[in-house]
Amino acid sequence: MVMKHIAIAACLWIAACERGQDEPTAYEDMNFAQRHAFMSEVVMPQMKETFVEFDAKYESMSCATCHGDGASDGSFAMPSPQLPLIPATEEEFLEYLEDPEHLRWSEFMGERVWPEMAELLEVPVYDPKTAPDGFSCTHCHMVEGQL
Ligand code: HEC
Ligand code: HEC
Repeated sequence: MVMKHIAIAACLWIAACERGQDEPTAYEDMNFAQRHAFMSEVVMPQMKETFVEFDAKYESMSCATCHGDGASDGSFAMPSPQLPLIPATEEEFLEYLEDPEHLRWSEFMGERVWPEMAELLEVPVYDPKTAPDGFSCTHCHMVEGQL
């Protein structure tokens, strides 16, 4: 009987632990302090690796590389006005991609940064049909005319 109680208590304890710690809160449900910690412990190291593969200069990547002034004023608001503005329309974007540097960067963004960031945040990737509110370039970058 005593053993049985201990066994039940142990199960409840494990279940509580599993809910409490082993199953981390999703980004969207985190409060600001949890987001801050998640960015420092998970996003920053992971994204730095991705950016360094593209260009070694990102060895010195910091919160400000994405957050701009939001990293120093503590708001961490996104999208960041300090990131390069991207064209607002599909037409202008196609024109923008005629510059090989813009194309090289946009490929890196589209193939690595965008999907990897969405995965880290556990949010759906933007899709005009299935996820119109999903994560996209404009969660980091502002578009021309937005400022
Ligand atoms: C690769 C880009 C990137 C880097 C580097 C990065 N962040 Fe973020 N961070 C984001 C994005 C994107 C969001 C917003 C996600 C969303 O759309 O809700 C965000 C959101 C946040 C938020 C929540 C803001 C809010 O309004 O709830 C905090 C806090 C934060 N970041 C802190 C940090 C800290 C601290 C660092 C450095 C250790 C850091 N971030 C590095 C991209 C980045
Ligand atoms: C998680 C945040 C994030 C997302 C999502 C993101 N970017 Fe970026 N982007 C950055 C950062 C950070 C830089 C580098 C800024 C620097 O080095 O100063 C950058 C740089 C660029 C540049 C280089 C511009 C220049 O003039 O140097 C282009 C082009 C670009 N991004 C396009 C895109 C496109 C297109 C998408 C969507 C497919 C996208 N980005 C998604 C964070 C992001």
